[in-house]
Amino acid sequence: MRRVLIAGATSPLARYRAHEFARLGDTLFLAARDSDELERIASDVRIRFGATVHTGRFDAAAVEEHEAFLQDVIRTLGGLEGVVWVAGTMDGLAEAFRTPQAVKRLIDVNFTGAASLLTLAACYFEEQGEGFIAGISSVAGDRGRGQNYPYGAAKGGFSLFLQGLRNRLSKRGVQVTTIKPGFIDTHMTWGRDKLPFLASPQRVARESVQAILGGKDIAYVPAIWWLVMLVIRAIPESFFKRMNI
Ligand SMILES: NC(=O)c1ccc[n+]([C@@H]2O[C@H](COP(=O)([O-])OP(=O)(O)OC[C@H]3O[C@@H](n4cnc5c(N)ncnc54)[C@H](OP(=O)(O)O)[C@@H]3O)[C@@H](O)[C@H]2O)c1
Repeated sequence: MRRVLIAGATSPLARYRAHEFARLGDTLFLAARDSDELERIASDVRIRFGATVHTGRFDAAAVEEHEAFLQDVIRTLGGLEGVVWVAGTMDGLAEAFRTPQAVKRLIDVNFTGAASLLTLAACYFEEQGEGFIAGISSVAGDRGRGQNYPYGAAKGGFSLFLQGLRNRLSKRGVQVTTIKPGFIDTHMTWGRDKLPFLASPQRVARESVQAILGGKDIAYVPAIWWLVMLVIRAIPESFFKRMNI
């Protein structure tokens, strides 16, 4: 039995991930801003799997609250073995092409908030000599694209952050897994049609948890995105800048 914190737990991706952990008998702490939705998800997981599930309000952008938040999680669970970072947003993407406040907001939630909480978790696990950290980044972080680079830059920074954390913590018995999903059928992609290899949140959650339990360093989910991004990264910049993707 592990004690696992899921940050950004009202996302469908996180909800199905909670199912996967609860099925294995893990105890969960679900965190996000929408407390009512968190409680609904927690009740569902308790009824389905008989799991012990706690909830707590968490704002990725309020980094000054993160230390007290993590202490509260550890106190409530009586310890901690894993943190899964799922929180993310593309809200305000159109404004982020024009205004400093909007671009800062995207970076605050998708990068700074993640780096803040996971820095605290990393120190806790390092001291403990065991634990795992998994971060949901994105294929959007593998190459800057004109259509989403403020979001992609934050995710790219997050992928690098996790890579460095893995390099630091692998010698200390702490596993760090970077999950890079392609398009997922959620609120974030709602209304956008013809998205290639669009995957259900259930599938992405299942494959992500398999990657975490399998001790993987980096997992593209679905796996086809490894090949897609290999090709996209190989396109020369002189040609890429003229493409409309
Ligand atoms: N959908 C895709 O195609 C796709 C592709 C690649 C990667 N991803 C990544 O997958 C993760 C889940 O995304 P999703 O598609 O499931 O989107 P979603 O349904 O919009 O879920 C976003 C989650 O992030 C939380 N969140 C947003 N802002 C937050 C804040 N300031 N503080 C704390 N939590 C916050 C939301 O919870 P509250 O609103 O309750 O706070 C919610 O739980 C994100 O990291 C996203 O970048 C998604």
